[in-house]
Amino acid sequence: MKKSSENIISLKNINKIFPLEVGGEQQVLFNINFTVKSGEFVAIMGPSGSGKSTCMNIIGALDTPTSGQYELYGTDVTTMSPDELAIARNEYIGFVFQQFNLLPKRTVLDNVMLPLMYRGLPMHERVERAREMLKLVGLEKFESYLPTQLSGGMKQRVAIARALAGNPKLILADEPTGALDSKMGHDILQFFKKLNKEFGITIVMITHEFDIAKYANRLIHIRDGKINYDGKIPKSDAKL
Ligand SMILES: Nc1ncnc2c1ncn2[C@@H]1O[C@H](COP(=O)(O)OP(=O)(O)O)[C@@H](O)[C@H]1O
Ligand SMILES: [Mg+2]
Repeated sequence: MKKSSENIISLKNINKIFPLEVGGEQQVLFNINFTVKSGEFVAIMGPSGSGKSTCMNIIGALDTPTSGQYELYGTDVTTMSPDELAIARNEYIGFVFQQFNLLPKRTVLDNVMLPLMYRGLPMHERVERAREMLKLVGLEKFESYLPTQLSGGMKQRVAIARALAGNPKLILADEPTGALDSKMGHDILQFFKKLNKEFGITIVMITHEFDIAKYANRLIHIRDGKINYDGKIPKSDAKL
């Protein structure tokens, strides 16, 4: 993949239309345009059903737009084969989901090592890297636990360690605090803030809550599949 642009993400006139099982179709994204530069921390906010996850799936190359152009790190994603897409996802993006998506029967250490499986690294290097990441999220003592033995906040920290293990340019987080209580949620956001500030990792986070979005440096607000605000975090969400 060539690295011709400092834009990590560039979406141009993105539309997404889903066919409906009952017949007909539903347009979910309308003419979405924005770019994200290296080092940004962006919140994509909007009410439930507004198209946030659809947008995130396109950004993460997990789904393709119906029309429009999407460049990830300067490469047009629509020209890439499924194999190339998988490599790009693995190399550039760390995913964090609301429901953590950890493998329940694998240890914490195994889960964190997962993105390194395809890197051709020797086993001892994978273990070393995964342990480093667990230390970063404060869970080095829990490497041999199973996810089911951990609290929600701890599970999300394991998921973040896994997202970081592959040394991604970009973290994509879809409602990362949606399954956590408020205190744990804010701890996770503090940690994102630190990753962004100290390690320069670009973060795009989806949320429906303004209190969560406030941790970012830029807000993109979506309503009914259209962007109706893109700029600094406003003082309140009253006018969104
Ligand atoms: N795979 C799909 N097929 C059909 N409709 C979908 C699909 N995924 C999402 N939608 C619809 O798109 C709309 C936006 O969904 P989504 O992007 O998940 O919103 P959000 O994440 O903001 O809650 C909803 O009406 C949803 O039902
Ligand atoms: Mg969603």
